[in-house]
Amino acid sequence: MAQNEDLFKKIISHSKEYGFIFPSSEIYDGMAAIYDYGQYGVELKNNIKQYWWKSMVQMHENIVGIDSAIFMHPTIWKASGHVDAFNDPLIDNKDSKKRYRADVLIEDHIAKLEDKINKEVEKAEKRFGESFDKEQFIKTNGRVLENQAKIDDITHRFSLLMNTNDLAGVKLLIEELGIVCPISGTRNWTDVRQFNLMFSTQMGSVSEDTNIVYLRPETAQGIFVNFLNVQKTGRMKIPFGIAQIGKAFRNEIVARQFIFRMREFEQMEMQFFVRPGEELKWFEYWKETRKKWHLSLGIPQNKYRFHDHDKLAHYANAATDIEFEFPFGFKELEGIHSRGDFDLKRHQEFSGKKLQYFDSELNENYVPYVVETSIGLDRTFLAVLSHAYTEETLEDGTIRTVLNLPKILSPIKAAILPLVKKDNMPEKAREIMNILQPNFMVQYDEKDAIGKRYRRQDAIGTPYCITVDTQTLEDNTVTIRERDTMHQDRIAIQELETYIRKGIKPLE
Ligand code: GAP
Repeated sequence: MAQNEDLFKKIISHSKEYGFIFPSSEIYDGMAAIYDYGQYGVELKNNIKQYWWKSMVQMHENIVGIDSAIFMHPTIWKASGHVDAFNDPLIDNKDSKKRYRADVLIEDHIAKLEDKINKEVEKAEKRFGESFDKEQFIKTNGRVLENQAKIDDITHRFSLLMNTNDLAGVKLLIEELGIVCPISGTRNWTDVRQFNLMFSTQMGSVSEDTNIVYLRPETAQGIFVNFLNVQKTGRMKIPFGIAQIGKAFRNEIVARQFIFRMREFEQMEMQFFVRPGEELKWFEYWKETRKKWHLSLGIPQNKYRFHDHDKLAHYANAATDIEFEFPFGFKELEGIHSRGDFDLKRHQEFSGKKLQYFDSELNENYVPYVVETSIGLDRTFLAVLSHAYTEETLEDGTIRTVLNLPKILSPIKAAILPLVKKDNMPEKAREIMNILQPNFMVQYDEKDAIGKRYRRQDAIGTPYCITVDTQTLEDNTVTIRERDTMHQDRIAIQELETYIRKGIKPLE
């Protein structure tokens, strides 16, 4: 755990030192849970967006994209349920005056029990060595079973309390579990109350005719209210999808874990409209398709897990989270939800406009059902970055810090480095820049010794370093060094483009 905390701190400081992520408004001491993306951060972020857009929109004939406004008619948030029910249960500690999310206190308590189970397993693994049967151990060991039973009981009781909005019961559960405030160490808690997460502001020039408007807490509603516009103008036939990437805003109370939980963040969402009754088939399809997307980045499968929801929203008939193992444990990265006809029906009701589809094969009008895939862009960024951050001890004992990013996502694809700053090498390197620049983000660097320049590129995850040396001037060949293996090939300048293109291709 301590080791992971240490790793997480290193990732945060590396992000700042190398121009990936800065605290927002830093010269004014920053703002909690708000971050700015720097020169390399924005490239990585754009590459993630493109990678998602390509797989969801470009590669699916029946999915199109939109870009709807952040401000929307306030009644939309009444219809969607956000005004009445987009709440977090909050609790304060009277001694430290610190505010917590009641569900997070309970989650942290469960995480401690999970830690105990993991420790038992690790201990046994060491004791039994190769003959260790983990599955069997988990099924039979008394201490593991006892802790698992506690976890199941707490999860079950908590979800029941939340489903019935029994906030007094949630407080009793926190007291019964002996959860203390991490700051004051006491159990002196206030009552639990609900807090709405939407940011609101006013629209209009004079105070009398201002209207409360909300900053959207999800991009999905912009898709629902445009369902008919897109269906009609695009002559879309069910099943079809509408995708969108955009900002969302939530007044998160527990602002920690860097860009994992932000107040202003981006989502990549897709709503897939299907025939009623076919939603579970499509839910399975999207679960599988999204899993493949994650694995195509080359991050090992054991870093991901599916977590089916026990507590379903009243309108949903299936929901799953794709969780990723961040440095602080497995947490939600993406949600896949079978939302039924809830959203379109509610918008029909609140707007008074029909949101139906005429299915010519069935000769029938109906409100389509929806399967949604919703992934946080910033969380994907953090997942990719935290998996990529590596400190390697080289043969000579020095440490190399390298970002083993999926190459397709790397901010800079190649650096072009004249070995020395003279003898026509800079001019030759500039010629190579001119060839590659229209195709890839490339960077020219002539400052410092070559080893130091390699390290700088490793630290921002550049897959290839191209070095111009004396031989280049004689035969138009260069060395090209691969980031992860540090292996160097000598190739002709005219082969560079194909070489790089092949090298950055993701897995099928
Ligand atoms: N339209 C469905 C929806 O918004 P959600 O589970 O609330 O569902 C979807 O959010 C995804 O958005 C999450 O899986 C997460 O990746 C991302 N997300 C949610 N809140 C976030 C926050 N405060 N900061 C960063 N990402 C967040």
